[in-house]
Amino acid sequence: MGKFKDILAYDETLFKDERVFDQDYIPKDFNYRDSQLEAIAVCIRPALRGGRPINARIFGPPATGKTTAVKLAFKDVEEVTDKVACVHINCQVHSSKFAVFSQIHKKVVGHAPPETGVPFPRVYEAVFKKLARNGKSLIVALDDMNYLFYDRHANEIIYDILRAYEIFPGAKTAIFSILSELEFPYKLDSKVASMFRPQEIFFQPYKYSEILDILKDRAEVGFYPGVISEDLIEKIAEYAFSNGDLRVGIEILRVSALIAEAEASRKVKLEHVEKALEKSKNLHLKNLINSLSSEELELLKILASEKENESGKVYEIFKKNTGLSYTKFYRIIEKLEGIRLIDTKFADKSGKGRTRNIFLRVDKNEIP
Ligand SMILES: Nc1ncnc2c1ncn2[C@@H]1O[C@H](COP(=O)(O)OP(=O)(O)O)[C@@H](O)[C@H]1O
Ligand SMILES: [Mg+2]
Repeated sequence: MGKFKDILAYDETLFKDERVFDQDYIPKDFNYRDSQLEAIAVCIRPALRGGRPINARIFGPPATGKTTAVKLAFKDVEEVTDKVACVHINCQVHSSKFAVFSQIHKKVVGHAPPETGVPFPRVYEAVFKKLARNGKSLIVALDDMNYLFYDRHANEIIYDILRAYEIFPGAKTAIFSILSELEFPYKLDSKVASMFRPQEIFFQPYKYSEILDILKDRAEVGFYPGVISEDLIEKIAEYAFSNGDLRVGIEILRVSALIAEAEASRKVKLEHVEKALEKSKNLHLKNLINSLSSEELELLKILASEKENESGKVYEIFKKNTGLSYTKFYRIIEKLEGIRLIDTKFADKSGKGRTRNIFLRVDKNEIP
């Protein structure tokens, strides 16, 4: 065999199952969240008896198991009953009203509506007629719901889901909002707010010992025996705990093993973990910046140039470079503040003026 064929054939992997480290992997052991799962069950149970499910606000810091808990609950509900349609929607991906209802349609009717040419009321009607015909209630989990607020779709979406019974008598619906913010920082219209009074289900941060336990578990199902020592898992757990982010720990496990593999090592060593830690420090920020639109990036570039901070002046430059309206500019500011890439402060501390100063929250060298 030629040299490259040798290389290609060499498949000595440390991973027993690499999918275990994927973002959307649902772990077999999901501990420490019993009270939250119970609270979710309380919200779903009425629907099992033919009643209306209860709205819930599921919240807590990132990587505390919110998405996993809801997906697990939905999976189990669908195994025990066909009376509840459970739709989990990733609002970062599906952030318009039509996109959200397309997902609901897909789940309830069995296929997505055509992308174009179908008026919204037809999609809406198809969903609720089908639910009525099958005697089903509907629970919609709006995961990372903050993404619905950047373009202000949230009010309409919540309204359309919760007031369905007015148009389709007997329709039973609930919303589970899933958010990483601790406060509910968004303003709902008063008519929406009066319909959406959710049960609050809090996901508290994991303790160090819990993070360690979860990471050990993950390493056990993901790696072959003996690939990584307990000491190294502890080191990773400490880092994840100090960052308050279990997800980072899982990613570092994966990357450490990839680095070890690349160096043809049969075990993960301290140096591999250290390299992985180094990589991860910038990863989060890079991902965030990569996910931005060119207009959002443009705004960051203006701030990185450090010529102006005052919102009106920043807008002048922004408008010159992009041609976008002030409304659009303002929404971008709100979004970037929401994801903590910038800070804004009123220039006039008495709060009278509307002028704000805008500050970059990250090192300007990080902006491409
Ligand atoms: N109790 C737990 N046991 C095992 N893995 C967990 C647990 N909680 C969270 N995870 C894992 O941590 C990562 C983040 O969890 P996720 O549910 O996406 O958090 P959130 O939605 O709160 O940000 C996922 O890989 C998930 O599998
Ligand atoms: Mg989540």
